[in-house]
Amino acid sequence: MTKIYVLNGPNLNLLGVRDPAIYGSETLSDVADRCAAVATECGFELDFRQSNHEGELIDWVHEAGREVADGKSVGVVLNAGAYTHTSVALADAISGLSVPTIEVHISNVHAREAFRHQSYLSAVASGVIVGLGTYGYEAGIHALAHREKR
Ligand code: DQA
Repeated sequence: MTKIYVLNGPNLNLLGVRDPAIYGSETLSDVADRCAAVATECGFELDFRQSNHEGELIDWVHEAGREVADGKSVGVVLNAGAYTHTSVALADAISGLSVPTIEVHISNVHAREAFRHQSYLSAVASGVIVGLGTYGYEAGIHALAHREKR
């Protein structure tokens, strides 16, 4: 079965506890359950992960890139958290292996602090979803499914 990766960056393990007024009350495990249901609906096998470490996220993007090249994956839904705003290395991993990537942010980063307006990932992402809450992950999975059918 074709795999879809949903990768989460730093502090997303704190979902449900961290700033619920901004990020909501759902936990990352709730999000993983919803993603699993949507992935199944779209005919994908879900690989859902979270890491607080930049290098680990980069390794996972490389892994996804190899799977995409082998026809075993359609790509990545990525909420890189704060690394979005700082990581040239993560952007290079995505572009270096041409990994189809949907960048997701739960909050509307453009309505927040100025440092969150800058994303190193948007220019190399296939699409960007911001401010739709955790539904953005579901939309990201649908977007990769739709992209595959084109
Ligand atoms: C976030 C937005 C980022 O600015 C922040 O650092 C996060 C979460 C979001 O999902 O809204 O950790 O990516």
